[in-house]
Amino acid sequence: MRSVIIYASTHHGNTKKVVETIAQNCGVELVDATKVHEKDLSEYDLIGFASGIFFSKFAEPVLKFARENLPENKDVFFIATAGNPIQLNFKSISDIAEEKKCNERGRYQCKGYDTYGPFKLVGGIQKGHPNEEELKAAVDFYKSIDK
Ligand SMILES: Cc1cc2nc3c(=O)[nH]c(=O)nc-3n(C[C@H](O)[C@H](O)[C@H](O)COP(=O)(O)O)c2cc1C
Repeated sequence: MRSVIIYASTHHGNTKKVVETIAQNCGVELVDATKVHEKDLSEYDLIGFASGIFFSKFAEPVLKFARENLPENKDVFFIATAGNPIQLNFKSISDIAEEKKCNERGRYQCKGYDTYGPFKLVGGIQKGHPNEEELKAAVDFYKSIDK
């Protein structure tokens, strides 16, 4: 099984912590979509997209990467970290995967330290997240879909 996670983690490195923990434990390849804009994904069996949430959407570099590089009919999964982890946060990326007739294998979301706008004044929200428990849950999630 050849798998890769395309990610962006620009606010506090929250998403990077999650995907690096998965990579260390499960040997998945990582691609930073803020640096790499083009890649042939046709040889991968499982393709993940991971991001912080910005105004209810995945980061634009991840969405752009998916629009331009995700082949049709692939098995995909999604990972998000967010100040407010709600299901709607996945819509921007799941819409692209759906357009490309991809098969979603699962999604994982946890809290991520957030100091955006007014939250900065109070020292941010979700401080300390993702925590050890959430990182372990992310690895368990990945193991459950990598079969
Ligand atoms: C400009 C901006 C907008 C954000 N918008 C949202 C949002 O709409 N919903 C949410 O739950 N979190 C929002 N957040 C919080 C981030 O999604 C959260 O901190 C995330 O863990 C950042 O991931 P990263 O450190 O990997 O970039 C926002 C953060 C910033 C800086």
